[in-house]
Amino acid sequence: MSCMIQLPVRVHYGQNSLEQVSETIKRNNVRRALVFTDQSLRKLGTTAALEALIAKAGAVPEVVDQIIPEPSVSDVEKTLGAVKNPQADLLIGIGGGSVMDTAKLASVLLGASYGVRDLLKDPLKAEKKLRTLMIPTTCGTGSEATCNAIVAIPEEQVKKGIVNPALIPDEVILDVNLIAALPRRIIAATGVDALAHSVECYTSKKATPLSNLYAAEGARLIFHNIEKAYSEGDTEALQNMLLGAFYGGVAITGSGTTAVHALSYPLGGRYHIAHGVSNAILFAQVMAFNRDACKSRLGALSNAVYPEYSLKSEDERADSIIRRISEVVQNTEIPLSLKEFGVKDEDLEDLVLAGSQQTRLLVNNMKELSLDDIRSIYRRVI
Ligand SMILES: NC(=O)c1ccc[n+]([C@@H]2O[C@H](COP(=O)([O-])OP(=O)(O)OC[C@H]3O[C@@H](n4cnc5c(N)ncnc54)[C@H](O)[C@@H]3O)[C@@H](O)[C@H]2O)c1
Ligand SMILES: [Zn+2]
Repeated sequence: MSCMIQLPVRVHYGQNSLEQVSETIKRNNVRRALVFTDQSLRKLGTTAALEALIAKAGAVPEVVDQIIPEPSVSDVEKTLGAVKNPQADLLIGIGGGSVMDTAKLASVLLGASYGVRDLLKDPLKAEKKLRTLMIPTTCGTGSEATCNAIVAIPEEQVKKGIVNPALIPDEVILDVNLIAALPRRIIAATGVDALAHSVECYTSKKATPLSNLYAAEGARLIFHNIEKAYSEGDTEALQNMLLGAFYGGVAITGSGTTAVHALSYPLGGRYHIAHGVSNAILFAQVMAFNRDACKSRLGALSNAVYPEYSLKSEDERADSIIRRISEVVQNTEIPLSLKEFGVKDEDLEDLVLAGSQQTRLLVNNMKELSLDDIRSIYRRVI
């Protein structure tokens, strides 16, 4: 069997590593840098700090700061239209998954003869036009490592992933200072999203020895740090979350997420539930459904995360991972019912149909899901 994993060429990690932007600018002889960000980062002063570093290194920044959460196709098009001068040498995305996904798409779209809708039909059309540096400020989607960009398609009430290796960023900076002021509910949602990436990749049909290395370490870091990061804002815990989220993203390039993400996408598309929250609501339910088909993998994941349980039976170890997933979602106070987001019992059949159409990810699930299976998973969380 041959397998593959893909990684950004340079990854800077550590407190104050944002300063490495200057080194990137000088090494690549950058004269003009495009910066994609959003209003929250602008208000926090993060964008200004980055602009100052760029200017100090001798380059001119152009900041595009109107990116909104969970962008749609037309949001991405609007952002591209807001770029005054696309003749840049580097595209920096500083923000959460929404900013980074928009920046990654811009890196293959600015100056291209194809548009976002063309890429939705044929993602392999994408060719990188601009070198990219991604700087996550949530903890997180792992978008700084992945070959994916997710966009909402409002007319179909769904979100879709555009997947192409050209979307893998060239460079990454993981600086804990940037998530120091992250609101607790965003630590919770994005942290559980990152945990889902690692657990789903480890239990995916596409899992390989290469992806397992990153998925297991991503899960270990997040299981051990998410509650501390959430309740205390502890710097070391947040730093570990940032690293765990990055590892989960790397795992995605070699494996793939499964039914948690598949059934989550219609919830984002229809009810605009934040990506991490919709995953969190479904996470334990889907893993409980998968338990028998994934028992040995969940047992092995438990060995990597909780070596102290290694003498327990495989059943106990598999159950302990699923139990921990429920605990993490409860301890981080993420709502457990879709009713809180306006989902009604009578919406169930539409959701079942939309969920069953997420075949790109459903094919990765170890256990096949019938319409009845999907229905009973959604029913448990409505
Ligand atoms: N490309 C991928 O591999 C991948 C993986 C998972 C999710 N996603 C996508 O990423 C998007 C979600 O990204 P996200 O969960 O990181 O959230 P986000 O980028 O949508 O940000 C959520 C909110 O947090 C704010 N924020 C970000 N950083 C902050 C900071 N440091 N301090 C204060 N506020 C801050 C933002 O302004 C926004 O209001 C979704 O569209 C999802 O589909 C992509
Ligand atoms: Zn995700």
